[in-house]
Amino acid sequence: MCGACTVHIDNKPVRSCAFPISALGSSKVTTIEAVSGRAADAVKAAWIANNVPQCGYCQSGQIMSAVALLDTNASPSRQDVDVAMSGNLCRCGTYPRIRAAIADAAKALA
Ligand code: FES
Repeated sequence: MCGACTVHIDNKPVRSCAFPISALGSSKVTTIEAVSGRAADAVKAAWIANNVPQCGYCQSGQIMSAVALLDTNASPSRQDVDVAMSGNLCRCGTYPRIRAAIADAAKALA
């Protein structure tokens, strides 16, 4: 429900807690530890610049969803961001900083 466990399966964000290993087949799994590329670099830099995390619990999932969004849409609208991030909850309420970081990452990718 919270999205904290989000990983990429074949470059798409997936909640690993609800994805049976039997359905994985030969798909590629990427975790927060290995996510890389232009969008990932831009998101990580923007996350640091915007001082996004508070407790940190949700942050790996937030970053994975943000990277997946910017990998497919480098210039997302506010609605695109809200839809893409809707499966990631933050109990600390860091949503304004998350949105700011995604906007900064998109600018860096432009
Ligand atoms: Fe604490 Fe998101 S930073 S739950």
